[in-house]
Amino acid sequence: MPTLTAADLSHERAFAQTLDAQDVLSPFRTRFALPVERPSDIYFVGNSLGPMPCATRALVNEELDDWMRLGVHAHHDSRRPWVSYHEQLRGPLARLVGARECEVVAMNSLSANLHFLMTTFYRPAGKRSKLLIEKDAFPSDTYAVMSHVAARGLDATHEVIELAPRAGEWTLREEDIEATIAQLGDTLALALLPGVQYRTGQAFDITRLTRAVHAVGARCGWDLAHAAGNLELSLHESNADFAAWCSYKYLNAGPGAVAGVFIHERNVNDLALPRHAGWWGNDPATRFRMSNRFVPTAHADAWSVSNPPILALAPLIASLAEFDAAGISNLRAKSVKLTALFEFLLRSIPGVEILTPSSSAARGCQLSLYFADRARAHYDSFIAAGLSGDYREPGIVRFAPTPLYNTFDEVWRAAEIVRKSMASL
Ligand SMILES: Cc1ncc(COP(=O)(O)O)c(C=O)c1O
Repeated sequence: MPTLTAADLSHERAFAQTLDAQDVLSPFRTRFALPVERPSDIYFVGNSLGPMPCATRALVNEELDDWMRLGVHAHHDSRRPWVSYHEQLRGPLARLVGARECEVVAMNSLSANLHFLMTTFYRPAGKRSKLLIEKDAFPSDTYAVMSHVAARGLDATHEVIELAPRAGEWTLREEDIEATIAQLGDTLALALLPGVQYRTGQAFDITRLTRAVHAVGARCGWDLAHAAGNLELSLHESNADFAAWCSYKYLNAGPGAVAGVFIHERNVNDLALPRHAGWWGNDPATRFRMSNRFVPTAHADAWSVSNPPILALAPLIASLAEFDAAGISNLRAKSVKLTALFEFLLRSIPGVEILTPSSSAARGCQLSLYFADRARAHYDSFIAAGLSGDYREPGIVRFAPTPLYNTFDEVWRAAEIVRKSMASL
């Protein structure tokens, strides 16, 4: 693409501002507390830690007040009785990820949930023992996978199959993943795949790859850390066996927020599945009989173990209310435009290499830039100029323009910061 002239750039900025003026979601920006210490900064790092919804503090305070006023009686007598508090999240979570209410639960953290889910869904038997994961998966996922294989007395060097991009490529081709799955055939027990790859921003076709895994008789689970709140998902329709995601990135529920889990209805209804059992997974009708026999509830709740952390769930309620108000399909429609504009402007800058696929169907909002040279210096200059992204080895800077609170003008300004850094370093 030819380099843009000053006149082109001013035209592009006017275009960005027109898109902002037409943006029906623009009022949502004021519903978030963007970091006040650096007010003119561009916050393109919601893929790492989303900003705080303004409604969060009041909701957390309500629970603190109810605890103060009522003590233990708040379990039943508070504004949002704690005994059923987590149930408020079922509707918003189901709408967010395209699931049925019986298929979702907010619990624990992402890595912990991957462990819980692999206890159920990694069932090596006979020659069907292999576990498929990407070579460049988020390390925590790989550690979890390796530890499950080891916990079953198996050898990870034989049982864990790692998917790698072709030589010289950054991203995986779906046809290559399908070919590997077909090759593994009846030796494959479980595939654990990413909805959106954390480093490259590549999005995968969940339905297509789940179908390929099921075709060889294996189970398919998804790490949606970078997909939940970013893509429009249809988890029930996709037929995935399970999925797990964190809530502190695109879901803006705060550092270390309570994570989310999807378990397909057919698995929820299979009460014989093995799982880690705890009293909060027991049928609520008999939970307080204090029997010593576990009776799983026919709900994804059956995988939750402990009574939920009310003070930690309140921010998730506040945040998912924003998603409900905006609508995930409206958010995605804006996101596609934000990222397309960003890509267009970045591609006009000499020397910028974008790793993320160009097709909007194969990415979420994130664009990952690769710097073969002086990557850290570029990253530092972005931060100094007021553009927050994050840095990942080797030499990758990730930016996530996010439709709930970012603007098209910020996209333009961000590209200008990158342009100046490329020209000066
Ligand atoms: C793709 C992916 N998987 C897993 C994790 C681990 O998350 P947690 O620390 O919440 O367990 C992260 C964290 O950023 C992630 O990006």
